Amino acid sequence: MKQIIAANWKMHKTAVETTEYCRAIRQMEADFEGVEVLICPPFTALSAAAIALEASSIKLGAQNMHWESQGARTGEVSANMLLEFGVEYVIIGHSERRHLMGEDDSQVRRKLEAALDNGLKPVLCVGETEAEREQGITKKVIEKQLSGALEDQDPHKLSGLVLAYEPVWAIGTGKAASVEDAQEAAVLIRSYLKDKLGAKLAESTRILYGGSVKAENIGSFTVLPSVHGALVGGASLEVESFSSLIQAARKAVIT
Ligand code: 13P
Repeated sequence: MKQIIAANWKMHKTAVETTEYCRAIRQMEADFEGVEVLICPPFTALSAAAIALEASSIKLGAQNMHWESQGARTGEVSANMLLEFGVEYVIIGHSERRHLMGEDDSQVRRKLEAALDNGLKPVLCVGETEAEREQGITKKVIEKQLSGALEDQDPHKLSGLVLAYEPVWAIGTGKAASVEDAQEAAVLIRSYLKDKLGAKLAESTRILYGGSVKAENIGSFTVLPSVHGALVGGASLEVESFSSLIQAARKAVIT
């Protein structure tokens, strides 16, 4: 399975900064062979990214979407609006949306379904907080998030699905999960997929790790048999650090 290295820029970069970044990174794309590289800028920079990445193999993702196609939803953006810019992936249920914007499992589910119905590939994020880990309920939390979004879905519709395990305590803290924790969570996610949605989907679904990923530690995650890439925040904001991270991920898989 081809690994995905995805840049989640969160609320960073103007359209002008996006153009500059995308023009620079596409100069290096010959070195990204074998890896699916994805950039998820803010909505306001999607147009600039789409133009700067035209005819490039670097793909475009969005950080969120609403489940309705249009209507009185002030401040929201729909799937068809994203498709207009050639967006292929959309991050759904990121912990910052769950915890800072109060997004619940039922909203995450509706977004996931709307993404799939519109031909967008969801990157569904799950992960426990530090308090939940300390209480020993990591497994329960991840399973609840998975069930909320995926239970009783038609596996045939989920073929583009990507999962991301992002423990909240590892995001932006410089304290990445241990390799053992990442592997354990990825195995848990895969066995959930197998039990509830079938072996075929479980085998074909890519699971990413996210949380303080950088060039120095990416290789230890991507060599794991259950992990097929990473969702990267801070280390994706500079062209140099993101491209060295991609190189490190490639090297780890090749060697
Ligand atoms: P950091 O890489 O900055 O820890 O962010 C991870 C993340 O939330 C990616 O979605």
